[in-house]
Amino acid sequence: MSLTQKIEKLKREKKALILAHNYQRPEIQDIADYVGDSIEISRKAMQEKDAETIVFCAVDFMAESAAILNPQKKVLLPTLGARCPMAQMLTVEEIKRQKAKYPNAPVVLYVNTLAAAKAQCDICCTSANAVEVIQSLDADKILFGPDRNLAEYVQEKTGKTLIPIPEYGFCPTHLLFQPEDVKVLKLQHPDAVVMVHPECSSEMRKVADFIGSTSKMCRYAKESNAKKFIVGTEEGLLHRLRKENPGKQFFVAYEGAVCPNMKLTTLDRLYLSLRDEKHVVKVPEQTAKKARVALERMFEIKC
Ligand code: 13P
Ligand code: SF4
Repeated sequence: MSLTQKIEKLKREKKALILAHNYQRPEIQDIADYVGDSIEISRKAMQEKDAETIVFCAVDFMAESAAILNPQKKVLLPTLGARCPMAQMLTVEEIKRQKAKYPNAPVVLYVNTLAAAKAQCDICCTSANAVEVIQSLDADKILFGPDRNLAEYVQEKTGKTLIPIPEYGFCPTHLLFQPEDVKVLKLQHPDAVVMVHPECSSEMRKVADFIGSTSKMCRYAKESNAKKFIVGTEEGLLHRLRKENPGKQFFVAYEGAVCPNMKLTTLDRLYLSLRDEKHVVKVPEQTAKKARVALERMFEIKC
C-alpha cells in the first residue's frame, strides 16, 4: 500500500476529516478533504458534524481556533513545531498594557494570535474580513494586532485609526517580498496582473492590482480575464492556483517566500498523526470560552 493509500485507510477507520491551509505542500493539499484560507478552514472545523477527529494541516493558531470552535472534536496538529512566528509576537501582557493606555479603544486581533491573546480581545478578524470587521465597530480608534502591515492596509481602507500592537508585528515570510522583483517580472510579462497578500509591505501593496487573502486571490484569478498573474504570497498557494486555472500562468513574486512552519507537515507526519492520534490540541476551557466569543463575533460579520 502506498503512503497515500495508508492515510486514506486510516482516515476512513478513524472517521477523520483533513483540513489544509492554502500554503501546505502540494501532496498535503491533494490528500486533504478541504483546502482553504484561515477563515474557511476555521469555518469548516466549526461546522463539522460527522467526523470524530479533525487533522489540521496548518500552523498552531489555526488548529487552536478549530479546537475552540468545535470542542467536541479531537483536533490533531501533525507537527508540534508548526508554529506561526507572528502569533508569538503578541503577548497577553502587551495587550493588557495597551488596553490600560487606551481604555476606550476596542481590541481587534488577527486570528494569527495564540488563544490566550484572543481571550483578551473584543473580536477577531482574518485578512479576508479585516476591513468589514473594523467597519462594523462603533469606534474610530482601535487597538489592532499583531500584523502592522495588515493594520496599515485596513487603516487606509476604512479611514479609522488603528493602533498597532505590538508596534512592529510582522510575518517573516511576507516581509521577503520586494517591489523590485515584481518590476523585473513585469518586464518579462507586461500583461501579468499582480496579486498580493495584505501582510506584505506598503511598497508591495503599491505595485498590486489586487490585495486579498489567499482564497480571495484564488477567486480573483478564476474570475479574471487575465492569463498571467504575479503572486505576492507564500509559494504554496501557486499549487492551488495552477490546479484551478489550467489555462493561466502564475509566477511567485519571490521564489524564496516559503513559510517553513507551514511546510513542516509532510505525508509521513500526517500518517503518524492519524495512526498515533497526535498531537491533540487542547485549549484550557476558561481561555477557550473567551476566545470563542471573539471568534464567533467575527463569523457574524458579513463580507
Ligand atoms: P489567509 O487567511 O489569507 O489564508 O492567510 C493566513 C496566513 O497565515 C497568511 O500568512
Ligand atoms: Fe505565520 Fe507568515 Fe507563516 Fe502565515 S506565512 S503562518 S503569518 S509565518
